[in-house]
Amino acid sequence: MKIAVLPGDGIGPEITEQAVRVLKALASDGLHFEMEQAAVGGAGFDASGDPLPEATVRLAEQADGILFGAVGGPKYDTLPRAQRPEQGLLRLRKHFDLFANLRPAIVYEELAHASSLKNELVAGLDLLILRELTGDIYFGQPRGVRTNQAGEREGFDTMRYTESEIRRIAHAAFQAARKRSRRVCSVDKANVLETTQFWRDVVTDVHKEYTDIELSHMYVDNAAMQLVRNPKQFDVIVTGNMFGDILSDEASMLTGSIGMLPSASLNAKNFGMYEPIHGSAPDIAGKGVANPLATILSAAMLLRYSLNQEQAAQRVEAAVRKVLAQGLRTADIAEAGKRTIGTKEMGDAVIAAL
Ligand code: IPM
Ligand code: MG
Repeated sequence: MKIAVLPGDGIGPEITEQAVRVLKALASDGLHFEMEQAAVGGAGFDASGDPLPEATVRLAEQADGILFGAVGGPKYDTLPRAQRPEQGLLRLRKHFDLFANLRPAIVYEELAHASSLKNELVAGLDLLILRELTGDIYFGQPRGVRTNQAGEREGFDTMRYTESEIRRIAHAAFQAARKRSRRVCSVDKANVLETTQFWRDVVTDVHKEYTDIELSHMYVDNAAMQLVRNPKQFDVIVTGNMFGDILSDEASMLTGSIGMLPSASLNAKNFGMYEPIHGSAPDIAGKGVANPLATILSAAMLLRYSLNQEQAAQRVEAAVRKVLAQGLRTADIAEAGKRTIGTKEMGDAVIAAL
């Protein structure tokens, strides 16, 4: 099995290194991965003037899945948009048609204290945000800055969804719910936006094929509020690219540490890109203190969804739970004043637990 490893920028290289070590440790189970690295994001720009170098695309095309670190950094913020690190990520999503973005938010019992919400509100939380990832205002044309007829400059973007784009993410949501608590909440802004009224109509239509699943609809502003009021009411939230971007950051904080959350971005063939949902954290890059668990858990999702190795995925997840139970903590998830360990020590601990 071939894995393309794209470490990216900031803490990306240190955290992917630990996930790679964990994958290599699965050799004891007879699992062998061919892992090759390539540059993406700012690193891609530095290496070849492009946040998504041609060689990186080719490597990814030959792989069974992509393990991705993080991209971005202050050094690149003033580049023209096309050369910014984020474009590497967006182009990869589009190139491989990775329309289904799974962002689970799970509260680990040992870390409930780290949440900014009261323990009883988040204890046992297990929700899945399914974000559509290749459409919406992120990719809609036309977009730009122009001078209008009144001679004033204006910026504009286009929110757009085709019926087939909505149908496939709706199917993915109902199917994901079947493996969970069978409830889907579709989030939109149907009271204002045409595109999202259409979204609601199409999701409702697809639901006719899933009578075993309970479907509800919620406006995005209410959903943002309900997520902090009573997050455990949700099982699967399905929503568009823009709303999903915002709500998934909010949901991550319910769990206490964004450093714990993995994600998967899949296409129709279950080829996928797997990445921690946190960013490149330039402030702590190179210090060896970043939490590698979100990336290690992303590797577990890679095993599950693209490589069909459910058992190995569960083994990695169990190892992560074990190190948490042992009280091992990187700084981001430690209680004030408690001992912390670094990135590599956390990798060591997961491998020992495996
Ligand atoms: C995310 C990020 C990206 C997005 C950025 C880095 C382009 O915020 O994966 O949520 O907006 O999709
Ligand atoms: Mg985001």
